[in-house]
Amino acid sequence: MRGFETLRSELSVLRQCLRGMPRRGQQAGRLDAFYGPQAEQYDRFRERLLHGRAELIAALDLPQRARVLELGGGTGRNLEFFPEQRRADLHFELVDLCAPLLEVAKHRTRDWPSVRITLADACSHQPDQPVDCVYFSYSLSMIPDWGLALDNALRNLNPGGLLAAVDFHVSSACPPPGRASHSALARAFWPRWFGHDGVQLGPERLDALCKRLPRHALLETSAPVPYMPGLRVPYYRFIGRKPG
Ligand SMILES: C[S@@+](CC[C@H](N)C(=O)[O-])C[C@H]1O[C@@H](n2cnc3c(N)ncnc32)[C@H](O)[C@@H]1O
Repeated sequence: MRGFETLRSELSVLRQCLRGMPRRGQQAGRLDAFYGPQAEQYDRFRERLLHGRAELIAALDLPQRARVLELGGGTGRNLEFFPEQRRADLHFELVDLCAPLLEVAKHRTRDWPSVRITLADACSHQPDQPVDCVYFSYSLSMIPDWGLALDNALRNLNPGGLLAAVDFHVSSACPPPGRASHSALARAFWPRWFGHDGVQLGPERLDALCKRLPRHALLETSAPVPYMPGLRVPYYRFIGRKPG
């Protein structure tokens, strides 16, 4: 019975991914149409696809009573990667533009008073007060106006605060020294594959992060993809400190 449920859940996510993200309309409506039918199954499938999230959160060096903002936080799964002993002293706000995913987040955090869930656009949302850490987990690649989202994140971050991101990407043909270089095949294949589901892969976002926050730690690596044996998709983990 459990095996049957798992199979049904996988099929419903795969069906939605094959249909892809609607190309027209406002971003909120497109997200609802794409994620709505798979919201309940989202976490199970993404556990095997969205790598490096736990590691990114474990590497965040946060002061006592820090205010933490996740932009494009979806179902709130990442909140569970924060160590249990820190959860009570940190204040979290999770922002997303997709109502069905936020319903899952609300349910998940129903007994977690220090979490606020907000339906808003990452490009314009203003928290009540500046935060000590803002992070994007596989959301920068899904935000068409990602430059605005980055500006907004930095505007709302305290001097000396952390801006972190984990996401898929591919390099340019001639990446800056010290950065990963991906093959022409990878640079052609992955953007096309993920583009169908509204995920934009390119070098621009990581380049902008490195330029805006020269004091940073960066890891570029790759990870397996469900149902694509032998293939690995490039992704990065970035933690930068805003000049104080
Ligand atoms: C691949 S999901 C990642 C969700 C979550 N951060 C995680 O790691 O599981 C990308 C998220 O970005 C959100 N998103 C896309 N565009 C957005 C925008 N303009 N403002 C806020 N959230 C947005 C989507 O609704 C979705 O929840």
